[in-house]
Amino acid sequence: MALDTTGTGTVTQNWQQRYRPLVDRYGRVHTNLRISVTDRCNIRCFYCMPAENVVFRPREEILTFEEITRFVRVVAQLGVNKLRLTGGEPLVRQGVHELVAMLVEVPGVEEVAMTTNGVLLGRWAQALKQAGLTRLNISLDALDRETFRQITRRDCFDQVIEGIQAAQAAGFERIKINAVAIRGITEGQLERFGHLARSTNLEVRFIEYMPLDAENHWERSRVLPGEEIRRLLEQRFGPLVPLPRPDPSQPARDFIFADGRGRIGFINPVSEPFCHECNRLRLTAEGQVRNCLFSLREWDARALLRRGASEEKIAQLVWECVSEKLPGHGIDDPKFVRPQRAMYQIGG
Ligand code: 5AD
Ligand code: SF4
Repeated sequence: MALDTTGTGTVTQNWQQRYRPLVDRYGRVHTNLRISVTDRCNIRCFYCMPAENVVFRPREEILTFEEITRFVRVVAQLGVNKLRLTGGEPLVRQGVHELVAMLVEVPGVEEVAMTTNGVLLGRWAQALKQAGLTRLNISLDALDRETFRQITRRDCFDQVIEGIQAAQAAGFERIKINAVAIRGITEGQLERFGHLARSTNLEVRFIEYMPLDAENHWERSRVLPGEEIRRLLEQRFGPLVPLPRPDPSQPARDFIFADGRGRIGFINPVSEPFCHECNRLRLTAEGQVRNCLFSLREWDARALLRRGASEEKIAQLVWECVSEKLPGHGIDDPKFVRPQRAMYQIGG
């Protein structure tokens, strides 16, 4: 029983004092929020976007920086301490470094990271660093211009390389290069990726291709499992030794070549689902909260934010979203249903 301290006879409970962390039915504690700042992108990766005629959300549907920050202020009080900005491509959103500066100020927020395709990093790396961005993941699936163009349907390879260099020059450390692994494409890139990891301090991470492409072309036969990549890399460069995992909820398994040169990570959502350790929530660009990439339901935070709802109402929405989280993505379930949205509409 809560005590009536208001003197009015009604019991009001201050939710901040009742602080309840975002623990779901399976005991997973949600401390991590991925925020999509736009569904727009300057390239067209085939595993994410349609080639032509992409329909983007009208601007007025997209959350403002103030709305995003207000949402974060609420979830930070529920235990969320790590944020990652995604898209679409986050750097096509005007002034996203200003959002970074706003988010790093929110009490409880310890880390604000970004996943970018790198095309615009040459222009923005320094501003992002100054704004307080803590970490950068750069998506790059191929290390030659022609394969890059084939995957992304755009000719921006040189810009991405310049972007990576700009990020290093700006002082970002432990930058990760994310490569979506696709059978028939990635095998031919492993030699180059191995050399890249071994000759720089960039960590290369392979992510298994998930059924989130816009054109519905995903097939299991196109997934190149992380274990297979590991064997191919070992044949060429020698044994890979597992590194300790400081954070058990991080999806990547990290390795280093036995001679101490070259870090390689594997994110294997298809062949080795890690849903049982997932601590992530997502906020789409138009303000819908999702408890999973593959979630078929969304919780409308924008409606609350635009109606000037109380922090408590927003917190309740997030609690409800977390409590409805399923144990896993169910890709292997015969009854698996893909979400309607593709990756660029959810936020990677
Ligand atoms: N499968 C796996 N990874 C994907 N990404 C985008 N679409 C897919 C997909 N269908 C990756 C991007 C980026 C990250 C945010 O998600 O390449 O690295
Ligand atoms: Fe753009 Fe990222 Fe989607 Fe590629 S994966 S099209 S870079 S949003």
